[in-house]
Amino acid sequence: MEIYLKDSAATENLGRVLGKHAQDGDVFCLSGDLGAGKTLLSRGVAAGLGVASEEVTSPTFAILNIYQGRELEVHHFDLYRLNRAEELEDIGFDEYAGGDGVTLIEWAELFPEQLPEERLQVELRLEGAGRRAVLTPVGERYEKFLLEVGKDADLSH
Ligand SMILES: Nc1ncnc2c1ncn2[C@@H]1O[C@H](COP(=O)(O)OP(=O)(O)OP(=O)(O)O)[C@@H](O)[C@H]1O
Ligand SMILES: [Mg+2]
Repeated sequence: MEIYLKDSAATENLGRVLGKHAQDGDVFCLSGDLGAGKTLLSRGVAAGLGVASEEVTSPTFAILNIYQGRELEVHHFDLYRLNRAEELEDIGFDEYAGGDGVTLIEWAELFPEQLPEERLQVELRLEGAGRRAVLTPVGERYEKFLLEVGKDADLSH
């Protein structure tokens, strides 16, 4: 599935729609260049799950931020500054990714071996003045998820 995001508001809105349809245990892997919009998209996802937008900050230095949504906890990772896969264990990555709550992983592509087998991949590419989002389901859960998302009227806002 591909969507053109003409401005920042469109990126955040896509996130909100993804968050609205997210379920316990979901994992969204976000990739794209520096400044592609991964954190903004994450803010939208968290908002869709009931987290106040201002709570969501880039976890580039913290590696992991945790927010409490309406019903689900949101685990927001940024793996950019991580050097070794072993460090993922230290921060409890395996327990979070695919465990209780919804997990968002910026720069997930840096540690492909460590990612859960089933996940939604969201790639953000710079295109014109905006971005192109390419969403790829890995596993049956995310195929269903994208069908629902594709039908959501809020996507065209
Ligand atoms: N669709 C869009 N069109 C234009 N600008 C956008 C769009 N989406 C996001 N941006 C802008 O891109 C900038 C970078 O966003 P953000 O910090 O979310 O990127 P990032 O991918 O998380 O970066 P990093 O790799 O450093 O973590 C922000 O200023 C944001 O407003
Ligand atoms: Mg970021």
